Amino acid sequence: MSRPRKGIILAGGSGTRLYPITMGVSKQLLPVFDKPMIYYPLSVLMLAGIRDIAIITTPEDQAQFQRLMGDGSAWGLSFTWLEQPRPEGLAQAYLLAEAFLDGAPSAMVLGDNLFFGHGLPELLQAAGQAEGGTVFGYRVADPERYGVVDFDAQGQVRTIVEKPPVAPSPFAVTGLYFLDGTAPERARRVTPSARGELEIVSVLESYLAEGALQVQQMGRGYAWLDTGTHGSLLDAGNFVRTLSERQGQQIGSPDEIAHAQGWIDDADLRARAEVFGKNAYGAYLLGLLGEAP
Ligand code: TTP
Repeated sequence: MSRPRKGIILAGGSGTRLYPITMGVSKQLLPVFDKPMIYYPLSVLMLAGIRDIAIITTPEDQAQFQRLMGDGSAWGLSFTWLEQPRPEGLAQAYLLAEAFLDGAPSAMVLGDNLFFGHGLPELLQAAGQAEGGTVFGYRVADPERYGVVDFDAQGQVRTIVEKPPVAPSPFAVTGLYFLDGTAPERARRVTPSARGELEIVSVLESYLAEGALQVQQMGRGYAWLDTGTHGSLLDAGNFVRTLSERQGQQIGSPDEIAHAQGWIDDADLRARAEVFGKNAYGAYLLGLLGEAP
């Protein structure tokens, strides 16, 4: 039997584009409407069925994340806390998490990425079953700002390139990477780029060279938002507010997902609801149990 896939949330970085806000607090702790940003990528890993998760933060910010999220047991999860002393690139996550992964396949999500769409759990679970590496391609108006992937109708990648002056396709690579157990040894072979970072694209290229990189397209029915600038942070908050208030359903609630997955029971969810007192989030969790606040 193959090893269960483990999760990584990369929530370090310097957040310079959000200065002065992020001079005093990690970007990933900022609110996206009614929840801390990191709840959203955490929810994605949970929807993929992943319960064993390493969370990578800066050394300075880690205590605040721990105060917010604990050891994961409130959601039936297990968190391992790791530090990234300096933001030396996304691929560094695989070096920091090498002992945690211990040869297991992984799903890594960036702490400032938000995904939403009908069928997302199925898309994630399919990626979880795949061999080699799987990334998600999402059409954007400005692909030059991202890693860009060009692929054929079978999802076989032709090229993948970081921030190209002329993009070979309109498809950006989202901040969600399903890689097999060889990711850390591939990351070890990567040398820093001109901007001094260990680039995730270099790790993906090593899969590509062996024909082991798949791309799944996230179609127009999905939202992929990142929250790295003042405008995009506000946009993401407005998006979450618009949809969740219209539908009366939460987006990115680890409490709801843990309960739906059967990782916590009714009594656990009720206890969580009590933490939030009479606010709307607590009332929503009680509502899932058919109870009024
Ligand atoms: P970026 O938005 O590229 O970088 P940043 O968060 O430091 O922000 P800025 O560009 O404004 O200075 O990072 C994307 C995500 O990856 C974000 O959630 C932070 C995380 N990250 C790390 O945790 N470590 C790293 O070394 C890098 C480069 C990013």
